[in-house]
Amino acid sequence: MPRVKVIHGPLLDRLGERETDLYGAEPLEEINASLVAMGKAAGVEVDCFQSDHEGDLVTEIANCRDRYQFLILNPAAYAHTSVAIHDAVDFCAAPTIEVHLSNLAAREPFRHQSTIARVVLGRIEGLGPEGYRLAMRYAIERLVGHE
Ligand code: DQA
Repeated sequence: MPRVKVIHGPLLDRLGERETDLYGAEPLEEINASLVAMGKAAGVEVDCFQSDHEGDLVTEIANCRDRYQFLILNPAAYAHTSVAIHDAVDFCAAPTIEVHLSNLAAREPFRHQSTIARVVLGRIEGLGPEGYRLAMRYAIERLVGHE
């Protein structure tokens, strides 16, 4: 069975209580449950992980190598700073979609830069939690050719 890993960075476990105007009201558990359900319906295993810690994210991403066929990653604030997460995505070698809930281009200049942009397959931003589901639709289509 093809496997997709979904990885969320710092403070994304606080969705629903954190700046809901920017990030939406849907809690992370609900987003994850919807992604697992999409995978189940299509015969794709979906595993989710969240951490506030850069090193834990690096380890988790690196461990996806040869174990997961697709990665959906929102590194949160580390997207703007982390060379280590760039290197982990590169090492893991699974096609990766970078997801951001908010529209980074419309926010502070320090959010306009993504260290991982050059090693991901594509990016979705500004569509709220729906961005994760659109990424999952793409992953499923690519892995099993149907939803
Ligand atoms: C975010 C955008 C980041 O700039 C921010 O630090 C986050 C969330 C997003 O999903 O819009 O924590 O990754």
